[in-house]
Amino acid sequence: MRKPIMAGNWKMYKTPAETTAFFEKFRPLVEKSEHCEIVICPPFTSLAAAVDAAKNTRTRIGAQNIGWAKEGAFTGEISGPMIVAVGATYAIVGHSERRQYFNETDETVLKRTQAALEFGLTPIVCVGERLEERECGNTDAVLVGQCHKGIFGLTGQQFAKIAIAYEPVWAIGTGKTATPEIAADAHRTIRGQVREKFGKEAAEAIQVREKFGKEAAEAIRILYGGSVKPDNARTLMAQPEIDGVLVGGASLDPVGFASIVNF
Ligand code: PGA
Repeated sequence: MRKPIMAGNWKMYKTPAETTAFFEKFRPLVEKSEHCEIVICPPFTSLAAAVDAAKNTRTRIGAQNIGWAKEGAFTGEISGPMIVAVGATYAIVGHSERRQYFNETDETVLKRTQAALEFGLTPIVCVGERLEERECGNTDAVLVGQCHKGIFGLTGQQFAKIAIAYEPVWAIGTGKTATPEIAADAHRTIRGQVREKFGKEAAEAIQVREKFGKEAAEAIRILYGGSVKPDNARTLMAQPEIDGVLVGGASLDPVGFASIVNF
């Protein structure tokens, strides 16, 4: 059994004071939630407040993006060592909003993912098709392309440490959740690609098995994201293919997000 990751992506919401207020309500509600890893990804400016508020709890804190360089002339970027120094342990990479509004490509997603791993952060790498791609029947091709052009540039050992979030773009912030079957289908496509890619490279596959006790395809956790709410979390999580969720809007409310965590 893969331990689920229940992650919240706050996007561009919550100041440090609002972050502290969130945790005051959230902490007691998830005190006993040992069945999963809980990760909250606030904006960079609230990371320190979140780390502080989550101290001595099982909740981990993540960034929403990560620069690919250690340091340098990259105005507006935040590096892995900076994220580590503030006490965060995860980083979302390649969110569709980054791809859509900030020209993130599969190539930069790979570079950012490699940086996260290099500095000891767990990357949650997002993939997913847009509505027109789904309507043309291109979902699998898009997912396969995003995997091959992006994260399949990792070694098998690196790969077993990442989490993937399948986030169909048409389901993000729209209230249209993928049905559990649609999500599970996409997860199977992704896992199948992982099996093909890292099962073929025999030497690497053996290394991964030795380190993780299982194949990369079995070790990798694939989260679902896109209009996850307290009332649909349970049916999504009932799919054996779904190893957790990445929640946007509904993660802003401590009571709502706690009930998702405790699906
Ligand atoms: P949503 O966002 O839950 O608000 O649809 C999900 C995400 O963008 O990660």
